[in-house]
Amino acid sequence: MPHPLAETEKRHLWHPFTPMQPWCAPEHQPLMIVEGRGCELIDADGRAYLDGNSSIWTNIHGHSHPRLVAAIQQQAAQLSHSSFLGLTHPLAAELAQRLCAATGPDSPLQRVFFSDNGSTAIESAVRMALQYWAQNGQPQRTQLAAFDRAYHGDTLGAVSLGGIAAFRGVPDHVGYPVTRLTGLENLHALPEATTRQLAAIVIEPLIQGAAGMRLWPPGLLRGLAAWCREHDVFLILDEVMTGFGRTGSLFACQQEGVIPDFLALAKGLTGGTVPLAATLTTERVFQGFLGLPEEERTFYYGHSYTAYPLGCAAALASLDVFEEEHVLAQLPAKEHALRQALEPFSQLPHVAEIRQCGLIAGIDLVASREPLRPFPPAARLGARVCQAARDEGLLTRPIRDTLVLMPPLAATEIQIQEMAARLLRATHRVIT
Ligand SMILES: Cc1ncc(COP(=O)(O)O)c(C=O)c1O
Repeated sequence: MPHPLAETEKRHLWHPFTPMQPWCAPEHQPLMIVEGRGCELIDADGRAYLDGNSSIWTNIHGHSHPRLVAAIQQQAAQLSHSSFLGLTHPLAAELAQRLCAATGPDSPLQRVFFSDNGSTAIESAVRMALQYWAQNGQPQRTQLAAFDRAYHGDTLGAVSLGGIAAFRGVPDHVGYPVTRLTGLENLHALPEATTRQLAAIVIEPLIQGAAGMRLWPPGLLRGLAAWCREHDVFLILDEVMTGFGRTGSLFACQQEGVIPDFLALAKGLTGGTVPLAATLTTERVFQGFLGLPEEERTFYYGHSYTAYPLGCAAALASLDVFEEEHVLAQLPAKEHALRQALEPFSQLPHVAEIRQCGLIAGIDLVASREPLRPFPPAARLGARVCQAARDEGLLTRPIRDTLVLMPPLAATEIQIQEMAARLLRATHRVIT
């Protein structure tokens, strides 16, 4: 039965990354989610779905985790928000300290700048990097480099770093000038004069998400970090998707022993409950902004909900849950369960490749494996499989014809197997 607010929603709402004409068509019934319980989302008719993409890569400990709910409720009853311009609050101090400590015992990342979402976490890092060089003796460092097929968010600065043409949405001349890289070899080939103009390089470590869950070759991150160190170019790691256990370690960069100059965190920071983002950086960068007010070295950037107390409370509770429930220690068994559960996909003639990093998986659907031929975009295979998955009781969202499975870290091995089984049935139903 159509939801009583279905027509109202179609009349007034505009959804991100969503073709709105088919959405608003009379025959389309928007799926209304009204509740989240553990790894399931419940619709207005009471139907439960497994959350197969962790609610757009955010959820960590399952929905409505009692520890996180209590932390948010208590904080809301005490202080929902106050300004972080000229004021502070204890939860922000505690969270900053714990985030810095989480980056490792001798980590130089000892400063935290809070914002609201992944795009602003990146935006903050980039602006800090540019301003740092401008006022610390190397004003020629005005250029940024980022990778082909990268995705770093949708604010103008973040989108100019992105390497996916379809997501750009603005003309090429709008945004930062960016040197586009495909691998380390491009850096090694850069003329010295160009290198000296680079302010920072941005990368999603270990795996590029929106590119279709594409894995970097092992060692690339370490090599990149070494190159950046050698040439004194800042390394910005975008761990908006990979942070908080998603790749098997708390932060993906820890798997290659890399500590960047800037670490951008969002999505899973609050366990996927409340918006909050953090940009961690070093004391070196921080010192570069010190001076008397009239020296104009201040970082004039920020948002109204900076260090949102509800977000800080949720993030602290999420870090507690990581410890109390030994979340990271349970991941290897879950990763193994996911790998095994994806095995049957490799038997399908229309599956070209399965990639997995931690609890993140991408499955490429193609019209033909040999010769390798994609489905025509108009066939919208990925979208159709995910629509069929919905009928099977699984929610996920494709990236073109790459199917994505990204269970919350709280998913049990049985739930992981069930997610893969439902996606497999959906794939069979669409591609017979
Ligand atoms: C790697 C990466 N960076 C940045 C972002 C942007 O985050 P947000 O949507 O919170 O602005 C995303 C979002 O998917 C992401 O995957």
